[in-house]
Amino acid sequence: MILHRAYGSTIIRICFEEKMQMEWTTSKLPRSTGVIEHYCEYLPVAEATPIVSLGEGNTPLIYCPQLSKRVGRGCEVFVKNEGVNPTGSFKDRGMTVAVSKAIEDGATALICASTGNTSASAAAYAARAGILCAVILPVGKIARGKLIQAFACGAKIVAIEGNFDDALRIVRELGESRNLIIVNSINPDRIAGQKTAAFEIVDVLGDAPHFHLLPVGNAGNVTAYWAGYREYQARRRSTKLPAMIGFQTSGAAPIFYDRIIEKPETIASAIRIGNPARWKQARATIAESRGAIDIIIDDEIIAAQTWLSRREGIFVEPASAAAIAGLFKCCESNEAAYSFQKIPEESRIVCTVTGHGLKDPDVIIERMKELKSVPATVNDVQRAIGL
Ligand code: F0G
Repeated sequence: MILHRAYGSTIIRICFEEKMQMEWTTSKLPRSTGVIEHYCEYLPVAEATPIVSLGEGNTPLIYCPQLSKRVGRGCEVFVKNEGVNPTGSFKDRGMTVAVSKAIEDGATALICASTGNTSASAAAYAARAGILCAVILPVGKIARGKLIQAFACGAKIVAIEGNFDDALRIVRELGESRNLIIVNSINPDRIAGQKTAAFEIVDVLGDAPHFHLLPVGNAGNVTAYWAGYREYQARRRSTKLPAMIGFQTSGAAPIFYDRIIEKPETIASAIRIGNPARWKQARATIAESRGAIDIIIDDEIIAAQTWLSRREGIFVEPASAAAIAGLFKCCESNEAAYSFQKIPEESRIVCTVTGHGLKDPDVIIERMKELKSVPATVNDVQRAIGL
């Protein structure tokens, strides 16, 4: 059956209503739907594909007056807040497609390497589908909030004495030799799901933005956004393509330096990657979109994270703040790979913030002063506030 339903300002086709009877959908009543149902025409799914969804996607595209002011020239800056997906990161968009396809193909177990968010997402969607999920992580390098998520959802967690790149190498080998579906972004279904973020941006703005800024780790997301923008343009849903500008940190910048980084280091643990799986596609994206790849340093990330929370009220994890630190660099540094000092006035700029701040709170916790209590009187509380 095919229905039509209002989504944002657009009427879109909803297929697969029959799937509501499947085991992992719970009700025939109206409910939140995820990216597969919203964008089924654009995804590698068929009537027979069971939909494993947690209601991902449809994340807010937030107009940011303070960021816009900082850019100047009448430009409008929007933040695409992917931290409000079901497991708190953009990974859920790709995971719903990858896990649904895995179930369609009869998989009984998933495997992934991760710097944290992929494992949290894979664990949740595997739990939803009732199958096993193995996650291979670099020991001691995963933010606590993310590890807790994978644990809570019952994943089989293996910490290795190595980094993310080692973990992915092992996962590739295990995935080839056993009946395990790899749900890292080397899986094309992950990219297909993640491209829906670009669709949503165009659906809200009415066209593609002029610039799109985002953090780059394994380079799956930049690849996915570009695929989404191109597909929407090809289907005449938009008239232009943005320049894609990706940011790595100075200690983990293989694409920027054009060499494998054996021991990547950065406070932004999510993008501590020295040999990105989608390196080539990222390069192609940057070239085709006439964008750039640039670096920022850890201190700039922390400053941007704080700035975004305090000025716009959006609390993101350090890796996500790389997009904001990058925006500041484009506006204010003479060394920027892409300078915004002469971009057309009234340009529209979208920054994707990829993960929620609560996932990786250690840096902020360290900076919080020990809370001292005061006597429970109005006067003491007033004094403590400084009124
Ligand atoms: N931001 C966050 C919060 C991430 O978790 C990641 C990647 C990225 C940005 C970079 O995205 O890899 O597609 O270029 N995290 C992966 C993981 C590697 O295992 O969770 P990318």
